Amino acid sequence: MKAIQVGLLGIGTVGSGTFAVLQRNQEEIRRRAGRGIEITMVADLDTARAKALVGEHVQVVGDARAVIANPDIEVVIELIGGYGIARTLVLEAIAAGKHVVTANKALLAVHGTEIFQAAADKGVMVAFEAAVAGGIPIIKALREGLTANRIQWIAGIINGTTNFILSEMRDKGLDFDAALKDAQRLGYAEADPTFDIEGVDAAHKATLMSAIAFGIPVQFDKAHVEGITQLAATDIKYAEQLGYRIKLLGFTKRREGNELTSSPAVRGVELRVHPTLVPAKRLIANVEGAMNAVVVNGDAVGTTLYYGKGAGAEPTASAVIADLVDVARLATSDPQHRVPHLAFQPGAMRDVSV
Ligand code: HSE
Repeated sequence: MKAIQVGLLGIGTVGSGTFAVLQRNQEEIRRRAGRGIEITMVADLDTARAKALVGEHVQVVGDARAVIANPDIEVVIELIGGYGIARTLVLEAIAAGKHVVTANKALLAVHGTEIFQAAADKGVMVAFEAAVAGGIPIIKALREGLTANRIQWIAGIINGTTNFILSEMRDKGLDFDAALKDAQRLGYAEADPTFDIEGVDAAHKATLMSAIAFGIPVQFDKAHVEGITQLAATDIKYAEQLGYRIKLLGFTKRREGNELTSSPAVRGVELRVHPTLVPAKRLIANVEGAMNAVVVNGDAVGTTLYYGKGAGAEPTASAVIADLVDVARLATSDPQHRVPHLAFQPGAMRDVSV
C-alpha cells in the first residue's frame, strides 16, 4: 500500500523529535502500520530553521493553509499549541477531510466538544495520545486496555514541571520561587510557566482523561483548579514529618448517586487538580523530578499504575507516532469500527460536579 502522507504544523521540540524518530525507526513503524508513514510537508513560521531540520526532500512552507490545501496530505499533525490559530487550523483540516493528530491538551480540553463533533460529522479521526502524560500511553490504556472496566477513579501526576519543583523543594529545602528558577534554568518550565504552576495544564489533561473514562463531554470549565504557588518549603517539611509527600494531583472520580444523597438519580463526576497529601509509602508519592505517573482504578482490573516521561522531544514523539500508526491502519476502515473519539452517550452520566 502507498505510504500515508503527513503534513506537520509547527516544528519545535516535539515536531523535530517526531521527525527524527520516524526516520530512525522507519522500518519497524512501516511494518506495524502496514504502510509507510512520511512527513512530506512542514509548515513553520521560521522556514529557514525548518529547512535545516528536515532536509531537501520535505517541502517547507510558511503558511499552514498550504498544507491543509494539499490533496495528497491525509493526516495533519498540529504541534502549534494554544487555543487560537491552532483551533482554526484544526477545524479547517477536518473540514478538508484530513485526519488530525495533536498534542494540544489546552485546545481539546476547552474546544474538544466542537472539534470531536466536527470530526465525527466529517468521518475523520482526531487522535491525541500525546496530549496527556507525554510518552505514557494512557489514552490507549483508558479506551482500549481497560475497555472492559467501569472506571472508578483516576489520580495522576500529570505535570512534570510542578513535580520537579516539589521534588526540589523537598530535597533541597528550597522555596517555591527558587525551585521554579531551577526548573526554568533546566528547561522544564516554560518561559511563562503560569499554566504549569497554577494547575491549568494538569487540569486540561485531567479533563480529557475524565471525558474518556466516564463518557462525558469535555468540561474544563467545571474543573476545580489549584496550583502550587502558595506552598512553602515548611509545608513540605511538615508533611514529611507526618509521613506524607505533597503532590499536585489531577483527580477524577465517578460519583454514584447514593454516595452523596439517597437519590439514585443524582450522578456525576468529580474533576479537580490541587496539591494533595499522599502517604509516603504509596508508589505515586515516590515519583520524583519531572516524571509523570497515572493511577487508574477499574472495577474489574483493580488499581493499575502507569509511569514515564510526560514531556520532551522523543517521549512525546513516541505518542504522536503511535497515533499516526493508528490513523494509517484505520484510515481506510469503516468509521463505525474505529475507536470513538469520546464514548459520550447523551442521557448517560454527564455532569462534572466538583
Ligand atoms: N509543561 C508540561 C509539563 C509539558 O510540565 O508536564 C507537557 O505537557
